[in-house]
Amino acid sequence: MNQEQWTAVDDYITDQFALSDPVLEAALESTAAAGMPAINVTPSQGRLLAILAQSVNAKSILEIGTLGGYSTILLARVMQPGGKLITLEYVPKHAEVAQANLERAGLTDVVEIRVGVAMESLPQIAAEGHGPFDFVFIDADKVNNPGYFEWSLKLTRPGSLIVVDNVIRKGAVVNPDSEDTYVQGVRRFNEMVAAEPRVSATTIQTVGAKGYDGFALIRVNGN
Ligand code: SAH
Ligand code: DHB
Ligand code: MG
Repeated sequence: MNQEQWTAVDDYITDQFALSDPVLEAALESTAAAGMPAINVTPSQGRLLAILAQSVNAKSILEIGTLGGYSTILLARVMQPGGKLITLEYVPKHAEVAQANLERAGLTDVVEIRVGVAMESLPQIAAEGHGPFDFVFIDADKVNNPGYFEWSLKLTRPGSLIVVDNVIRKGAVVNPDSEDTYVQGVRRFNEMVAAEPRVSATTIQTVGAKGYDGFALIRVNGN
């Protein structure tokens, strides 16, 4: 089993289930053309996010980590009528590219991009009275995952779903002595989740075009 095979199978799934379209292709192209990293979710992962968001009838969605807006488009498309998505991004250039991609997708009315450090935007969003969010996608700097989880709990309700990307990192997550601050962030986040009585949670390992990684899935049961 190797990367070549995982990519080939991902391409097959993308094709078989018609997971892409010209708007999504253009979003990826403009992200690459701007010199931004190709770390968006894959089409199959993106469809999983969309199905999960649909399953909780998400009408209000919070995303932490916008990049070029690829996952943003997928999530915004499946919101209930009248829905609103807020996505947090601290690189202004990324936010600009994402805004153009959302325009092309016809989603600017339902998506707000907040430029800034997410740990500063989150208390502002709370202070403004936003939420509870039905669905949260955490996909920014992993070192802050503990803080993002805490804020996500404050900004959700029983029945909300919180999905966290990149929690396996090629298996590095099992190493308590890892010097990767991302790994340390994920491990501390896992400890907080495990100690949190208000949620039920698991992590699913994945392979695909982006290699070996995984998602944490957290259902808020009470708060
Ligand atoms: N969710 C996107 C990918 C996000 S990549 C998709 O799947 O299409 C992670 C993004 O988080 C990057 O654009 C990065 O600039 C942003 N980011 C990193 N640290 C951040 C922080 N502290 N606050 C807000 N955004 C941050
Ligand atoms: C990285 C970040 C991501 O969100 C991702 O899905 C893959 C890689 C990174 O920072 O390396
Ligand atoms: Mg990610």
